[in-house]
Amino acid sequence: MDVTRINEKFLEKFGVQGELFTSPGRINLIGEHTDYNGGFVFPGAIDRAMVAEIKLNGTDRVRAYAVDLDDYTEFGLCEEDAPEASWARYIFGVCREIQKRGGVIAGFDTAFSGDVPLGAGMSSSAALESTFANALNELFGLGIDRFELARIGQSTEHNYCGVKCGIMDQFASVFGKAGHLMRLDCRSMEFEYFPFDPEQHGYKLVLLDSVVKHELVGSPYNDRRASCERVAAELGQEFLRGATMEQLEAIKDKISEEDYMRARYVIGEERRVLDVCEALRRDDYETVGERMYETHWGMSKDYEVSCEELDFLATVAKECGVTGSRIMGGGFGGCTINLVKAELYDNFIATAKAKFLEKYGHEPKVYSVVISDGARRI
Ligand code: GLA
Repeated sequence: MDVTRINEKFLEKFGVQGELFTSPGRINLIGEHTDYNGGFVFPGAIDRAMVAEIKLNGTDRVRAYAVDLDDYTEFGLCEEDAPEASWARYIFGVCREIQKRGGVIAGFDTAFSGDVPLGAGMSSSAALESTFANALNELFGLGIDRFELARIGQSTEHNYCGVKCGIMDQFASVFGKAGHLMRLDCRSMEFEYFPFDPEQHGYKLVLLDSVVKHELVGSPYNDRRASCERVAAELGQEFLRGATMEQLEAIKDKISEEDYMRARYVIGEERRVLDVCEALRRDDYETVGERMYETHWGMSKDYEVSCEELDFLATVAKECGVTGSRIMGGGFGGCTINLVKAELYDNFIATAKAKFLEKYGHEPKVYSVVISDGARRI
């Protein structure tokens, strides 16, 4: 990403130069809505990121400029200083969560910008949180380990932004490694890097953005989580992770039909992530693709976090012979992630654009992504 604009804006606003930090958005090959169930996820960081220029300002206030929104705000570091602007609450939340963990920080000036599309399911908010968590950790020499940096971002979502998210997005943004996906066990927090280079095997990975606005704040996202927690409690478990379909059937008449469907999806998804990881070890992209479609329809029919436009995109993908296609991220809009044979790529993109335009009056946006490194200083 070109950082000259940030440099210019920072200089213009604050009359000095600061240091640059960045953190990426993420894709997730499979393992959706499993993180808060203690299950597995399989994300990778991408070459779209947030970048912030930062300089300590010797006061106890933060002065922040959102370059892309052309919006400026100032806030203090006490709980009652929470800013109004939703973008600023991410930065404020990170500061507060660091302080709650005993980290001593002070005021700073910052200007930031990014090329992670907002509301597309590519974790722009986690990228923002991880950028600041990592930067403040370095600038104040706090010695916070990388898992805790991810948790600081997650707690920011819970306590300052109203989303009871899992750990996947912040984990991916902090731990990303070029050319690798990461299988994270969200119960033990053990993880493993998997080399991932679809091009080498004749496939391309592409995201199609329905441009249906995806907004997890105040969304049924938290309701999905609550459903899972109710079923886990009924099973006498902390998490749905590890539950079997037989166990679920056995309690079927004690839970609502809706909670049953939610749990059925999660139990299936846990199996699918493990299948996909094993398939990748033997370069079996066909199985990877099959599981992706299964996830899509599970998210659509059982978990009910898809929308008409995304179902349409997955259907067109299937018709075009795309190996795997599914809704990516929390849902309720955003992107599909598609694994497509290189020779079918051009036709798929052209067909998806044309059909989508005809039906919805605009084209989907197309993003090809490169699996990249996580949070760092530039
Ligand atoms: C959002 C959340 C994640 C995860 C996904 C769904 O991106 O932030 O924690 O739950 O949805 O897999």
